[in-house]
Amino acid sequence: MAKRLEGKVALISGATSGIGKATAILFAEEGAKVVFCGRRQELGEKIEQEIKARAVIQFTRAVAVEFASRGIRSNCIVPGLVNTDLIPEGCDFEKLILPSVPMGRSGKPHEIAKAVLFLASDESSYCTGMSLVIDGGKSVL
Ligand SMILES: NC(=O)c1ccc[n+]([C@@H]2O[C@H](COP(=O)([O-])OP(=O)(O)OC[C@H]3O[C@@H](n4cnc5c(N)ncnc54)[C@H](OP(=O)(O)O)[C@@H]3O)[C@@H](O)[C@H]2O)c1
Repeated sequence: MAKRLEGKVALISGATSGIGKATAILFAEEGAKVVFCGRRQELGEKIEQEIKARAVIQFTRAVAVEFASRGIRSNCIVPGLVNTDLIPEGCDFEKLILPSVPMGRSGKPHEIAKAVLFLASDESSYCTGMSLVIDGGKSVL
């Protein structure tokens, strides 16, 4: 399906929260190249990540439809909070995330790797276009 803002560039001021944030995400989903601003850099980086994650999910689905008839499957994983080197040193990660994750802990890299293995193996032979959320229940809240 054609996207409504394909080939367009959007400049959105005040997009780290509220209406601007929702607009930035929606515009990116509709194919626009989005440039946005706000004072809170951390929030801006989170939105960037969210836009990128949504783009990966859309790409996964598009590839799945395009190549299904050739026996090619396309799936992606959406990991929640996983304790890796990405976490800044000295950050009390577990304490920080505890309230937002029903399982009360971060994920371990091998718990994500096992899901990747499932998707890469014949055990998932009927799965395509799928985004597998592995987040200890965070997205349910
Ligand atoms: N929500 C409503 O009910 C409502 C109703 C009528 C009109 N509006 C208007 O709609 C607009 C957006 O409202 P909202 O509810 O989405 O507000 P919001 O969630 O507080 O968002 C405001 C945005 O503006 C950014 N911002 C504020 N001061 C800035 C500055 N000096 N330089 C750069 N960025 C700045 C903020 O980012 P940083 O803090 O990261 O800089 C944030 O991303 C506002 O103009 C508001 O007056 C809202």
